[in-house]
Amino acid sequence: MALLKVENATMQFGGLTAVKDFNLEINEGEIVSLIGPNGAGKTTAFNMITNVYTPTNGKVIFDGKDITGMRQDLITQKGIARTFQNIRLFKDLSVLDNVLIANHVHIKSNFIEAILKLPRYRKEEKEMVEKSISLLEELGLQDLKDEKASSLPYGKQRKLEIARALATNPKLLLLDEPAAGMNPTETDELTAFVKEIKDKFNLSIFMIEHHMNMVMSLSDKIQVFEYGITIAKGTPSQIQNDKKVIDAYLGVSEDD
Ligand SMILES: Nc1ncnc2c1ncn2[C@@H]1O[C@H](COP(=O)(O)OP(=O)(O)O)[C@@H](O)[C@H]1O
Ligand SMILES: [Mg+2]
Repeated sequence: MALLKVENATMQFGGLTAVKDFNLEINEGEIVSLIGPNGAGKTTAFNMITNVYTPTNGKVIFDGKDITGMRQDLITQKGIARTFQNIRLFKDLSVLDNVLIANHVHIKSNFIEAILKLPRYRKEEKEMVEKSISLLEELGLQDLKDEKASSLPYGKQRKLEIARALATNPKLLLLDEPAAGMNPTETDELTAFVKEIKDKFNLSIFMIEHHMNMVMSLSDKIQVFEYGITIAKGTPSQIQNDKKVIDAYLGVSEDD
């Protein structure tokens, strides 16, 4: 059984069909990439999976359960986490606090227990701090834990965003252009990082990315969008040799 299955998902914004009949299967342990020109509907596909937008048509099945239209926080609890094309962090908070807040999705104490700081809450809070610090250690970010998020160099902010996503214990991680704005050295470093976290945290990954070295070296499967439509699906070598893809996308210079 596929971990994630998207069936004929379509998203219309007024008269514009941003994504049409999107079908996707991601098996456990796979890295699948979605590529295509700007405006092709890639982020919209992510937004349908995480119910930022409920698809106009079609279904999203995760872990055998229909999650179409499910509340975003419940989708997170079920095991889907994501990062955003434009980094989203609490800029004025420390690295540790950014991870701690993300951790809160799994807290069991209720509001009253929390404001009265009752024993269960205090225990959970202590555990969360410990868990967050050990996560930062696993990702090599522990030395930065007291730094303000906004003071980190760009590459580290990207990593922190991934750390926040991992703090929710996902089975499936969605990365929206994680290497955007990175130079080749930074991109190679991030490629290794993604490989490493995939193994360490037993993840399946769905990634949108323009850096082709990263896409080709990480992906088990690639899907190509053009104007909201899937024009090709296959392994990296199948995609690299697909004439439609070369014409629509790979042939153009990628300097954005
Ligand atoms: N909330 C929205 N309302 C209206 N149009 C949208 C909305 N979100 C995305 N679009 C449009 O959908 C198309 C696909 O956008 P997007 O999914 O962001 O593309 P990509 O991530 O591939 O660059 C674009 O034409 C974009 O303007
Ligand atoms: Mg996008």
